[in-house]
Amino acid sequence: MNFDFRNWDIHVGDPHPFNAERPRPDNGTHRPDPSRFFTPEYWTEEWDKVFTKTWLLAGVESDIPEEGDWLRFEIGPESFVVVRQADGGVRAFYNVCPHRGSQIALADFGSANSFVCPFHSWKFDIDGTNTHITDRETFHPDVLCHKTDLTEVRCEVSSGLVFISMNDDVMPLAEYLGEVAEHLALYEIQDMVVVQHKKSDWAANWKGGVDAFYEIYHLHAVHPQTQAVMDDRTQIDLFPNGMSRQFVPFAQPSPRFPDQETVNLGIQMMLADAGIDPETFTGTAQESRAAIQKAKRARSDKYGLGYERFSDTQLSDSTIYGLFPNIQIGCHPEAVFIHRFLPDADDPKRFTYETIILFKPEDIPGHRPPAWMGLSPDADITGMTRPDIVHTGLGEPPELGEVLDQDSELLPIVQKGARSRGFAGPLWSEQEARLRHFHVELDRYINGEK
Ligand code: FES
Ligand SMILES: [Fe+2]
Repeated sequence: MNFDFRNWDIHVGDPHPFNAERPRPDNGTHRPDPSRFFTPEYWTEEWDKVFTKTWLLAGVESDIPEEGDWLRFEIGPESFVVVRQADGGVRAFYNVCPHRGSQIALADFGSANSFVCPFHSWKFDIDGTNTHITDRETFHPDVLCHKTDLTEVRCEVSSGLVFISMNDDVMPLAEYLGEVAEHLALYEIQDMVVVQHKKSDWAANWKGGVDAFYEIYHLHAVHPQTQAVMDDRTQIDLFPNGMSRQFVPFAQPSPRFPDQETVNLGIQMMLADAGIDPETFTGTAQESRAAIQKAKRARSDKYGLGYERFSDTQLSDSTIYGLFPNIQIGCHPEAVFIHRFLPDADDPKRFTYETIILFKPEDIPGHRPPAWMGLSPDADITGMTRPDIVHTGLGEPPELGEVLDQDSELLPIVQKGARSRGFAGPLWSEQEARLRHFHVELDRYINGEK
């Protein structure tokens, strides 16, 4: 059958080298076995063949600006500590003492000249070197000839984002991210600071999270309120190594939405983000997106923000990147929204959903992260205070905002269906091409092709 996904409308905005639609790889039409969503056996394979082999986003550089600043990154059964070095570089270690295996970093962040193990006070320099063994003389030399330093993992930085890999033979990060690294560089994330950081535990497999956030096909059903402000005809691009991109047009009602004229409350919010007073705006809902693009260009001209590097689409819309295996980043010139899907250590039917808002502080009136990101109005956006990570447990309302709370309610329902004898695996549309691309890459790792 001759099926062409280009038959649905897309919105690419003005020409820009990064906006050109790419040829699609042939990812086939098969449906994967749903056991990948719930069996402990599959989860073990994922840990051994995917998470321990790929690059993983561990944190952001702006959280550890000075020598000795460190952050902790926990995923599945592992914990890592990422430390700013004397030479300005960043190194990462397993968060485990070589003596008896105690963790050495017991908080999300810290700053230290050295690490002291809480169990028997062995000490380690910030480069991982062991500097002190308590009562050294009581150890047989043949015991201490084993490695007594912290165990290092690969660590590289791209656009202010710190990645680690447990795989010594992993390809360089720049090669792994490919073209996506160049795209992300446009947003100058290295100059952004964390202004909100939340985690919540959900009763679903981590891939249920990735899948739900990798498509907007479900918006009309799960988040009908978004139909007033978002067009759900989108451009999707698929890149090597399981990476992907999607443009979601904002400030433009979906064609499914009956009123294409009235500037509804949601679009008013987006106009206000761009510095346009909704009270005096005379255009229609359909004209709002272009007005926002124009207003942002004018703001850039006035304050020297250099938005020439962005296409119109990138100014008004959500430009979303999927980084294999467990990251999605929604990019706007002012701020980026990171979603991290963290598998539970033991239960494949649980994951932790993490959101991080990164914002570039500028001394410009009204300059804030886009309102849709749900930043609390009293959040400090100056970069002076790093907000604590707020973590809500299973069953507690995650309070992530209306849209994300709707997802948190739906995902456990989908998870339950995954193990039904009546479900034989997902049937993906072309609107869900990013999901197929992600699962096909996952299969390559699981099948030992990568
Ligand atoms: S476990 Fe760290 S010093 Fe003993
Ligand atoms: Fe959703």
